[in-house]
Amino acid sequence: MKNVGILISGRGSNFRALSDAVEDGRIPARITLVLSNRASAAGLELARERNYPTVCIPSKGVGRDAYSRLLASELKAARADLVCLAGFMRILGPELVKRYPLRILNIHPSLLPAFTGLHAQRQALEWGARVTGCTVHFVDEELDHGPIILQHPVPVEEGDTEESLSARILLHEHQIYPEALKLLCQDRVRVEGRRVRILPGGAQT
Ligand code: GAR
Repeated sequence: MKNVGILISGRGSNFRALSDAVEDGRIPARITLVLSNRASAAGLELARERNYPTVCIPSKGVGRDAYSRLLASELKAARADLVCLAGFMRILGPELVKRYPLRILNIHPSLLPAFTGLHAQRQALEWGARVTGCTVHFVDEELDHGPIILQHPVPVEEGDTEESLSARILLHEHQIYPEALKLLCQDRVRVEGRRVRILPGGAQT
């Protein structure tokens, strides 16, 4: 059973999807920390309702390395084996990333390596992409860059707005993020260079 720390900044719908999958037994994990860098994050309220250990560490005005040290100490206290960034809008410092090699996951609303950074759905629309989607990947020291675990494509439709496209992508985020975490928790993920190999399920699925 892996201990998972979840880092959020806002709405927390990906956290909800992960939590649902843990609570109904699809993922062999325990959520030992939900941490937000914003006190107003709706996801924090949900985490409290679900009786998870919650921490809010405001990040405003705190430098990246200093903030990462605060995160590291909370994750250590929570005995986190894995860390899921779920709409967490701060970049982690290199020390923290090194402390959890191939153990920090992120969800990003594009088919990486396209449209890194903020407003990925808007970037896809403005670029005129016909297909975008979402990606779960390992976090490394570069932004939206580490090895890709799962992706799901989403066609861009005529008349799509940032809101309509984001909503369709989000439905798939809520599928692939729990699936990726499950694979990690079942020890079915092997990383060879940039390529991620997923071992077949067998009896444990
Ligand atoms: C999600 O769409 C997630 O992919 C995105 O923020 C949203 C958070 O929603 N993350 C990024 O853009 C990271 N670069 P949520 O709080 O409802 O999970």
